[in-house]
Amino acid sequence: MGNFLAGKVVAVTGAGRGIGRAVALAAAAEGARVVVNDYGVAMDGGSPTSEVASGVVKEIEAAGGEAVAVADDVSTMAGGQRIVDVALSSYGRLDGVVCVAGILRERMLFNMTEDEWDPVVATHLKGTFTVFRAASAVMRRQRAGTLIGFTSGNHQGSVSQANYSAAKGGIISLVRSAALGLHKYGVTANAVAPVARTRMSANVPMELSEIGEPEDVAALVVYLLSDSAREYGVTGQVYTVAGAKIAVWAQPRELRAAYADGSWTAERIAEVLPGSVGVDPMPMLERVEGMERAARAGDRPNAQ
Ligand SMILES: NC(=O)c1ccc[n+]([C@@H]2O[C@H](COP(=O)([O-])OP(=O)(O)OC[C@H]3O[C@@H](n4cnc5c(N)ncnc54)[C@H](O)[C@@H]3O)[C@@H](O)[C@H]2O)c1
Repeated sequence: MGNFLAGKVVAVTGAGRGIGRAVALAAAAEGARVVVNDYGVAMDGGSPTSEVASGVVKEIEAAGGEAVAVADDVSTMAGGQRIVDVALSSYGRLDGVVCVAGILRERMLFNMTEDEWDPVVATHLKGTFTVFRAASAVMRRQRAGTLIGFTSGNHQGSVSQANYSAAKGGIISLVRSAALGLHKYGVTANAVAPVARTRMSANVPMELSEIGEPEDVAALVVYLLSDSAREYGVTGQVYTVAGAKIAVWAQPRELRAAYADGSWTAERIAEVLPGSVGVDPMPMLERVEGMERAARAGDRPNAQ
């Protein structure tokens, strides 16, 4: 056992499988006491079972660590609150929350139903809000704490997962809002965009050229939860971790501007915009066009 997180109490959602499980095991191995939350659902969010969360608690205990299971649904306010309440009643404090829980309901936008949109946004985006909401109230009083959300490279856009992409984009804005709003209380907030071999990534219909294991993602999360990251002042950041690679995303910013002499009209914008403000080429669109070309040529598409 290491001691990178010695004395800390960390809650991890979606900790029963995949990346969440690796985060929970790694945090416990580094000395944290861990709240293991998992609703124990199938990849589309159905058929819940509490055995998934309690199984990881047993693994942590078998390795000499301390953990407690919460099998609640993070998309409910009561579920988010219970995760935080169990941390406080079991261990008396809460130093970090890591919101990993997620589901997929893939469909082209023009065919997507409300039943495919709502649960995906509820699990990812609201499921991060419910936990951040309850945890931030505790961390504000403690004058310390770390909030971590899970996004995806797909926040840039997705051909057949508009629900997932929209939720992942929302998580980045939620994380940045938390970083801004809680800065003066000593609370940090960051987002992780992982690429790792799990049941979820096994579903991607293309070869991923940069991919690693859930344990690679867990190492970054443990760092972000640590005093080392807090002392360095890491907040409001989005990090990709894909095997050997860790990358930081740029902050969104305006690229180019033009100013009207008086008020704009549509005609004047049509004259001025192409030569001044212009467009910012969309890397994902170029990649999708490349995949479409490869598909037409009969090759299996490659994507990062
Ligand atoms: N695996 C990747 O390459 C990859 C890429 C980009 C983003 N992500 C994100 O990383 C996170 C983890 O993904 P994974 O690949 O480990 O998936 P996974 O399916 O292996 O694990 C997700 C876990 O979340 C749990 N869960 C689902 N809904 C829940 C709810 N309402 N309440 C509590 N728990 C719930 C599931 O039971 C499951 O155990 C997700 O947010 C996913 O979107 C993963």
